[in-house]
This record gives sequence, structure tokens and C-alpha cells, in this order.
Amino acid sequence: MDRIIVTGGKELSGQIPIAGAKNACLALMPATLLSDEPLTLTNAPRLSDIKTMSALLSSLGAEVSSLQDGKVLALSSHDIHNHTADYEIVRKMRASNLVLGPMLARLGHAIVSLPGGCAIGARPMDIHIDALEMLGAVIELKDGYLHAKAPNGLKGATIPLRFASVGATENVVMAATLAKGTTVLQNAAREPEIVDLVSCLRKMGAQIEGEGTSTITIQGVDRLHGATHPVVTDRIELGTYMLAPAIAGGEVELLGGRRALVGAFADKLEATGIEITETEAGLKVRRANGRVQAVDVKTEVFPGFPTDLQAQMMALLCTANGTSVLEETIFENRFMHAPELMRMGADIEVHGGHATVKGVDRLKGAPVMATDLRASVSLILAGLAAEGTTIVSRVYHLDRGYERVEAKLSACGAQITREKEPQ
Ligand code: EPZ
Repeated sequence: MDRIIVTGGKELSGQIPIAGAKNACLALMPATLLSDEPLTLTNAPRLSDIKTMSALLSSLGAEVSSLQDGKVLALSSHDIHNHTADYEIVRKMRASNLVLGPMLARLGHAIVSLPGGCAIGARPMDIHIDALEMLGAVIELKDGYLHAKAPNGLKGATIPLRFASVGATENVVMAATLAKGTTVLQNAAREPEIVDLVSCLRKMGAQIEGEGTSTITIQGVDRLHGATHPVVTDRIELGTYMLAPAIAGGEVELLGGRRALVGAFADKLEATGIEITETEAGLKVRRANGRVQAVDVKTEVFPGFPTDLQAQMMALLCTANGTSVLEETIFENRFMHAPELMRMGADIEVHGGHATVKGVDRLKGAPVMATDLRASVSLILAGLAAEGTTIVSRVYHLDRGYERVEAKLSACGAQITREKEPQ
């Protein structure tokens, strides 16, 4: 396993290119299952989660080629000979459950392991199941696997989601593209990754309206054809790196960044005293003067403050002037970074879904442990300004969602290296 060593105290200056969105790409790749013609994705991120999804699709019989050093993915699902998404793959990456909707729609049959819980919560699939059953699927749970069938094909329906689940919205939208008749999805998720998926499905011949709003209407068609589609910029990587100069000081330009992708987050970051300017090439972020001001944060579904940026924002607020309260409303256990930040001298009290952070003058470097993708990057951000050296171990979590963190940050002056964990 690798670990990352950060020595704090270096102000940052330079540019960081933002990659294609992991969470868009993980929904776009299974869309290949909806057609027997080739799907090409450009601006794909080079991440271990993408490799996991490629392995899953290949295990079903799809062909997945990674070209141009991983930035282009050529997919085709001409003959799917296996309908089972195996526990060994699904347990590592919940997004594997996004093969359920497309397989049901095109093949009428899918066996998908339940993902099981993960560090940040139980993450059941009841919303996916209820919605697909409303489309006419028959789904039963056996030995930890969902056995889903659509004996008479899927039929359009009006589907109210009890919660605006991102994954359930993606599964239902993909399934409904080939259902007979019209589907109206109510309380749909509005994330930019949904908008990107719909944009790709439309290129494949799907008839969909309303993406980005709470009501998405899908008119089923007989078949979908191939397409080429660029993966949208990763708003979570963008927000993560906007916090680097905010925490370390200095000024960094995030190439490819657009403020519309990070609206609520950018507003909150400006409220702490950070300057954000849109440029031709992206977003320029500068910490104008000294200490940032404390702010309260509440995570919500898009367009609210994203849960995937909560851990990173906490790292900034640990040294803010004043006390901040962070409320996590999306996942039941997403404060695992708090005890690790406390090892670095942060003053944090966690009660249920609330974390109260009293700003301290400066954190102190320490050996810390990554527990999930976003918690691990928040520890690296904290290390950028901490006194001394921070060693973040188990960075395989990190590699799931961030391309070459140490290269991107050291290019802006951070003192950060990666090495093998000593045996
Ligand atoms: C997507 O996960 C993202 N992953 C997550 O990013 C992100 O945190 C999450 O959306 C929320 O924005 C991908 O897109 C691959 P949900 P997803 O269904 O679709 C509960 C990262 O760091 N729920 O919107 O799984 C669930 O337990 C990852 O990149 C049910 O109860 O999220 C959670 O509490 C982490 N039943 C809440 O809803 C269901 O059937 C939000 O889940 C489905 C979800």
C-alpha cells in the first residue's frame, strides 16, 4: 500500500487541471449496455474506480478499451453473455449497481449483488428497487443478490422517489429509455452528473426532458444507437482543489473549472473570505488575507452544498477564526475524518449528524489514516498548512477518486510525496 507525506507551510501558486467527473463516468459507462452499438467516452478520468467499472462491464461480456492513456474509453456491448454483477466487484464499488437498470431494459434480466454497507453508511437500494418495480420489473432478494426480471419488458410509469437519490435516478432514467410508453420521474436528483448522463443518452437516441430539474420525463424508444460523449468536468475534484489555496494560502487557477458546477460551495467558500474569479481557462482562487472566517455548513442534494465536499470544507474550518457547525444530512456516518483531524490538533465535537469545529491557530502534522475517499483528501488538505509533517496512510481510498494528487499539488509548490508503506 502507498502513503502520502505532506510537509506543511508552503503557499501555493500555479494551475491545476481538473479531470472528467468520476461520478458522471461511472453512470455513463453502464449506458453502453443499452445499445449494441459502440459508445465512446472522452475526457475520462484515470482512476481506480473507472478500472473497476471496466472490469465489471467486461465480466458481463462488454468490450471496454482504454485509449490515449485512459482519457478515452471505447465501449461496446454487442453480446452480453453474463447477467450477474458479482459481489466481489460490487462490494468494492457501490456504483456497480448502475448496471441494473440498463441490463433490465435491454436484456430483461439482471442479477446484481447488494453492495453492502460502506464506511459512510448502510446505503441500501430500496429506492432503486421500488422505482424499477413500478416500471414492471420483478425483483427478489436471494443470497445477497437482487434477482431482477422484466418478463414482459418494462412499461413507462409515474414514479415519485421518496428521496432524490442520485443512483436511483440514474438507474431509472436508463431503464426508462427502452420502456414502452412514458415515464415521469418525480423528486429526481438534479446533480450535474445526471444532466451529463441525459445529454449522452439523448445522443444515443433517447427522448428525455427535464434533466437538472426535479421532474424528468422519458419517452421510451425501441432501441438506442452508439454515440461519442465528453465526460463533464468533476465538480468534486474542482471544489477539493479550490480548498488547497484556501487552506495553504496563495493563488491557484483550476483549469476547466466553472462556477456553475460548484455554486453553493463557492458561495460558502467566499463567505469565509476566499476570493474566487472566473477566468477564460477556469476558476482562480486566492486567500486574500490571513485567517478565514468560520461559517456554518449544511449538506443537501444538488444544488445545495455537496456532501462530497463536507470533509474537505471541515479541513479548512479547523483553523478558521471562530466556531463552525457542519450538518451532514445525506449520509449517517460521514465524519470519520474528524477523529483524524483531531489527531492533528483540531478542536471538533461530533454529535450525531452535527460537527462543531472551534478554529485553532494552526494544526500540527501527524500520522493519520484515510477511511474513505473524501476523508482521505481532507487529511492531505489539512497537511498543506499544518506545522511539520503529516503522513496519510491507506491512500488506495484516495486513488479511487483523485488522479495523481501529489503531482497536481507539488506542481503548485506543495511539499508532498508518495511512497510505499514500510513493511
Ligand atoms: C452518489 O452516490 C455518489 N456516487 C456519491 O459520491 C455521493 O455522495 C452521493 O451520490 C450523494 O450525492 C456516485 O455517483 C458513484 P444516493 P449514491 O443514492 O447514488 C440513501 C463519492 O465520494 N439511499 O443519492 O449511492 C443513501 O443511503 C461518492 O464520490 C437509500 O436510503 O447516493 C444515502 O444516505 C460517495 N436508499 C442517501 O440516500 C436507496 O435506494 C444518498 O444516496 C438509495 C440511497
